[in-house]
Amino acid sequence: MFRIGVLVSGGGTNLQAIIDRIEDGYLKDCEIVSVVSSKEGVFALERAKKHGIPALCMARKSFADTDAYSNALAEHFKSQNVDLIVLAGFLTVLSENFIKEFENKIINVHPSLIPSFCGKGFYGLIPHEEALKYGVKVTGATVHFVNGEVDGGKIILQKAVYVQEDDTPEVLQARVMKEAEHIILPEAVKLLSQAKTN
Ligand code: GAR
Repeated sequence: MFRIGVLVSGGGTNLQAIIDRIEDGYLKDCEIVSVVSSKEGVFALERAKKHGIPALCMARKSFADTDAYSNALAEHFKSQNVDLIVLAGFLTVLSENFIKEFENKIINVHPSLIPSFCGKGFYGLIPHEEALKYGVKVTGATVHFVNGEVDGGKIILQKAVYVQEDDTPEVLQARVMKEAEHIILPEAVKLLSQAKTN
């Protein structure tokens, strides 16, 4: 089994996309062994529980700093013996130690075509607000490896989505999620799980 840990901070639709593709057989020999949220009470935790996946909250605010938080997360995922850690709408930056510990084993989904609308401060709705402000006609999503630079790691997959005339940030976000993020995130997981098992 390819053992996946998932980090979340919110609604968890990207987590749901992975769960759905495991359940429909697209992701063979893959198992989500742990879901950890940086915030209490988020819907992503409910989604995990509903599907019998162990889920817990390790709140960022309960730790003194990024290092202490990252160390606790690293210990947790080492104890779970994970092959891959997916940042699925995880809105907290992790320290260098965590990234080194799981080198080439952490991936993130970002709601724009990197290198546009990415980096520090670009999360959630903001990339979509900025895309509309700029007036781009095409945006999309990127799945990439996580390195020490925010949204700076090697790109694994990207998918483009057209911006429409009367889009609001919320409408654009929903389209990018449905047409890009929820498709390429499970695809990237599949590529990496196959690379491990072959
Ligand atoms: C998604 O759009 C994801 O790409 C974004 O947060 C949203 C989480 O939604 N992530 C970032 O902005 C990371 N920089 P979800 O909780 O429904 O998956």
